[in-house]
Amino acid sequence: MPTTVVVGLQWGDEAKGKIVDYLAEHASMVVRYNGGNNAGHTVVVGDQTYKFHTMPAGILHPNVTAVIADGVVIDPAVLCGELSSLSARGIDTGKLKISSTAHVIMPWHKLLDSLEERHRGSQKIGTTGRGIGPCYQDKYGRWGLRICDLIDPERCALRTREILEYKNSLIKSVFGGEPLDASEICDEYGTYAEAIAPHVADTSHLVSKAQGAGESIVFEGAHGSLLDIDHGTYPYVTSSHPISGGATVGTGIGPRCIDEVVGVAKVYTTRVGEGVFMTELHGEQGEAIRQKGAEFGTTTGRPRRCGWFDAVAVNFTSRINSCSRLALIKLDVLTGQKSLKIATAYEIDGKITRQFPQDTTVLNRATPVYEEMPGWSESVVEARQLEHLPANARAYIDRISELVEVPVWAVSVGERRDQTILMD
Ligand code: GDP
Ligand code: IMO
Ligand code: MG
Repeated sequence: MPTTVVVGLQWGDEAKGKIVDYLAEHASMVVRYNGGNNAGHTVVVGDQTYKFHTMPAGILHPNVTAVIADGVVIDPAVLCGELSSLSARGIDTGKLKISSTAHVIMPWHKLLDSLEERHRGSQKIGTTGRGIGPCYQDKYGRWGLRICDLIDPERCALRTREILEYKNSLIKSVFGGEPLDASEICDEYGTYAEAIAPHVADTSHLVSKAQGAGESIVFEGAHGSLLDIDHGTYPYVTSSHPISGGATVGTGIGPRCIDEVVGVAKVYTTRVGEGVFMTELHGEQGEAIRQKGAEFGTTTGRPRRCGWFDAVAVNFTSRINSCSRLALIKLDVLTGQKSLKIATAYEIDGKITRQFPQDTTVLNRATPVYEEMPGWSESVVEARQLEHLPANARAYIDRISELVEVPVWAVSVGERRDQTILMD
């Protein structure tokens, strides 16, 4: 797989981190292309667990140049924290490259994230509170401060004062909040700039050069396709493009440079935050999956909402990503379920449809039409080949692949790197 995009096909936390890490073993570059530290990507190697927020998950491999590309929004405090904690664990971060045009999450973005959420009241999005939405708003509104500004002290001070004059008036007059102090911010961000500066590069050029030389590159999508700002369950979405198209926009390479798109999906569904969730399980069954799957947010620790696999939604997200292969995750969590349900269609206003509605208010009226399959009781965590799996587990995987219309490439049976079954 020379150039591969790894995307989440649900609402995030599908284990993109695990799959990126797996592919990175044979890659020379791993490129994060969207979102910010609202992401939490977990990689488990032996008894060591790593949680990445801004840092590309491929950084654990010495062969990999890790790239934070143009489309990412960077909280420098979080990035510096990740750099030093990885160094303290003996991971070489020298090969990290950071785009000079990536936007910087500033203190006013974090403040406005919480003020906007409070203002929305019962309509709140349930954001991660990391300033992501306000930072992207400013990027598109041309009020942004970029990494190239951050590492130039004079430009950073000038830009901070210019922007803050406007932001402080907004904070005070609209939200009645406390204004922020430009000098304090410049002092704090100056220290981050020093740590970040040696990593700053023209990453679009670097990625294009590697692609042109035929090197193996993994593009690491953050979040899930149903959180995409254009194609997700708006307004309960994030502010970037998690889908595979985001990899070209977010790194400065063209669509013809992408060879494969691996769509990652859990064999059930989870969601963190507010918004429609067609196959959600309320009560004991959802709670049982949450406990067994340790379904608590990697970034915020919030309990994830859990439900059955939704083949209508994943068929849709596979299409908008042009997925070439599927990675199905957390098969072990379903062991012990007597029977399993898959949503194969929705009933909306008395009509049955397999088409995922674009309008979220229509989606709110969708009742899943379920197909029921028998479960299995045998443990699958030691399985390393498809033949090691119970027949009912294989049938379940095959059925998902059939409904989603994409071949299965990998099945994950545990959190560790080695707990993975690859198809021939
Ligand atoms: P990401 O945001 O898509 O990278 O996913 P997260 O890291 O937020 O959440 C996935 C969680 O599932 C992590 O805690 C992983 O360690 C864990 N995980 C990955 N694959 C498996 C699996 O096959 N079985 C189980 N039980 N856990 C898994
Ligand atoms: P990874 O990469 C799960 C959700 C938040 C909220 C909505 C908007 O780990 O899969 P934001 O802070 O982005 O403005 O919040 O999006 N969300 C995620 N949920 N996994 C993620 O990332 C998420 N990133 C954002 O919970 O509902
Ligand atoms: Mg996550």
